[in-house]
Amino acid sequence: MKTFLIAALSADGFIGKDSGHLADWTSKEDKKFFVETTKKAEAIIMGENTYETIKRPLPGRLNIVYSRDKEYEGVEVTKEDPKNLLLSLAKRGYNEVAICGGSQIYTMFMEQGLIDKLYLSIEPVIFGKGIPLFNRELDFKLNLVSESKLGEQTILLEYNVLK
Ligand SMILES: NC(=O)c1ccc[n+]([C@@H]2O[C@H](COP(=O)([O-])OP(=O)(O)OC[C@H]3O[C@@H](n4cnc5c(N)ncnc54)[C@H](OP(=O)(O)O)[C@@H]3O)[C@@H](O)[C@H]2O)c1
Repeated sequence: MKTFLIAALSADGFIGKDSGHLADWTSKEDKKFFVETTKKAEAIIMGENTYETIKRPLPGRLNIVYSRDKEYEGVEVTKEDPKNLLLSLAKRGYNEVAICGGSQIYTMFMEQGLIDKLYLSIEPVIFGKGIPLFNRELDFKLNLVSESKLGEQTILLEYNVLK
């Protein structure tokens, strides 16, 4: 099972202003990259706060939402241990999974060593304060695989996590 984290960051390193912030500040090029890349993965995992900003399953992908008590139509809601969830997805035939945030979910998978790759797109905005990519102390080294421009204003960084 391969996993990647995919996130858009402000130039000062935030993924949103607050836990209910809509992703209306990201570029159309980033949105296109997100759709193409997550469709290739076939399954996406996100937290309840992030799902509440979207409010509908994203088509053409298995949608898994972490929540302790919510229920939604068209998505699988889970509170499974991340390692067990990935094992059960592998048994169901999924080879690659996209970890789509927010901060709580990125942190939970990263700190357990369950992320192989990061796609970070840097958007030309500054929030000053907000939701960080990760919200607990971590200590990982990365290998920069590629850097490219998604559009005139957006940079895409691709990192592999060194294990
Ligand atoms: N820029 C980007 O690329 C990007 C991507 C994604 C999200 N975001 C932003 O990130 C923000 C949301 O992030 P967030 O960190 O506040 O929230 P989040 O990670 O999206 O969701 C947190 C919720 O997930 C559930 N959860 C967390 N751990 C769990 C566990 N072990 N078992 C079961 N459920 C669990 C809980 O929901 P319950 O309360 O229902 O139990 C928790 O309140 C928003 O601003 C959003 O726009 C940005």
